[in-house]
Amino acid sequence: MGKKLYCILQYAFLITITFPMLSSEAKQPLSLATDQTSLLSLKHTSLLLATNWTNSTSVCTWIGVTCSLRHHRVAALNLSNMALSATIPPQLGHLSFLVSLDLSNNLFYGDLPHQLSLLRRLKFISLRLNNFTGDIPPMLGQLPKLEYLSLSNNSFIGSIPKSLSNLTNLQFLELSFNSLSGEIPKEFGRLQSLQTLYIEYNHLSGAIPSAIFNISTLVVIALRDNELSGNLPTDMCRNLPFLEPLSQLF
Ligand SMILES: *[C@@H]1O[C@H](CO)[C@@H](O)[C@H](O)[C@H]1NC(C)=O
Ligand SMILES: *[C@@H]1O[C@H](CO)[C@@H](O)[C@H](O)[C@H]1NC(C)=O
Ligand SMILES: *[C@@H]1O[C@H](CO)[C@@H](O)[C@H](O)[C@H]1NC(C)=O
Ligand SMILES: *[C@@H]1O[C@H](CO)[C@@H](O)[C@H](O)[C@H]1NC(C)=O
Ligand SMILES: *[C@@H]1O[C@H](CO)[C@@H](O)[C@H](O)[C@H]1NC(C)=O
Ligand SMILES: *[C@@H]1O[C@H](CO)[C@@H](O)[C@H](O)[C@H]1NC(C)=O
Ligand SMILES: *[C@@H]1O[C@H](CO)[C@@H](O)[C@H](O)[C@H]1NC(C)=O
Repeated sequence: MGKKLYCILQYAFLITITFPMLSSEAKQPLSLATDQTSLLSLKHTSLLLATNWTNSTSVCTWIGVTCSLRHHRVAALNLSNMALSATIPPQLGHLSFLVSLDLSNNLFYGDLPHQLSLLRRLKFISLRLNNFTGDIPPMLGQLPKLEYLSLSNNSFIGSIPKSLSNLTNLQFLELSFNSLSGEIPKEFGRLQSLQTLYIEYNHLSGAIPSAIFNISTLVVIALRDNELSGNLPTDMCRNLPFLEPLSQLF
């Protein structure tokens, strides 16, 4: 379907999602050693990490690592754009104070380990621009605080897990440029914080669930280049006061 559909509505506000990340040079309590051991599983994926992530310096000073002041634990891991080629080690699931995980734009591959579901404090996950394969693990729907999830530009297959509809704090969901098939879960109507939904360039089929058009927080929807069918509700814009006019439905 080569048709673009525009909702003639005013341009809405820009989305800003901020995540408090505090750094700490404080002395290391024992628990930080657990975080250090978890991270060492990634140390040998690049020369940069191998030379920077040394035992003789605090894990909180390691490149890509941010600790929280409050708990003196690793709160953010940002290894984006480092040409890292590895699988995600299951040990990452032990970074129990992790709030933000950004591994975007690398050469990570393989399946996502189910241990990621242990990271109950996660608010931000970006794995975009890698070469992950396999299904999107349904356990991602068990991260109660998740606000931002990007898995775009990978090689994920299978259907979109219904369990993602449990992420009631989710503001940003990007699954575009994968090989996802099946239908858009009708349960997605429960994503009542969602502002951005990018699922274009997959092989999704079936009708667009009308419940999507009830998510009044939506600013952007991009669904194009799938195999979706059926009619759009004639009053679809009624409950979408913030929808950008350039959202690409088809
Ligand atoms: C590791 O990198 C960080 C950030 O660039 C730097 O501040 C620190 O001194 C480096 N540590 C070592 C041991 O090279
Ligand atoms: C660094 O510390 C870890 C555990 O904290 C230990 O297993 C490893 O052998 C240490 N490496 C070096 C080079 O001392
Ligand atoms: C990770 O670092 C890159 C810069 O290297 C930055 O653009 C990006 O916003 C950071 N990610 C997060 C979640 O802060
Ligand atoms: C991604 O992984 C698939 C399957 O393992 C492989 O065929 C493909 O060449 C990889 N692509 C890149 C860009 O590494
Ligand atoms: C994602 O993949 C598509 C198709 O391969 C490509 O056209 C697009 O530029 C990629 N996105 C980014 C941000 O590189
Ligand atoms: C959503 O969470 C509830 C409570 O944890 C659970 O019973 C339900 O199975 C979950 N829904 C899906 C679709 O996974
Ligand atoms: C959309 O919301 C309206 C009003 O809250 C409700 O009556 C309707 O059943 C909802 N439609 C869907 C498909 O969820």
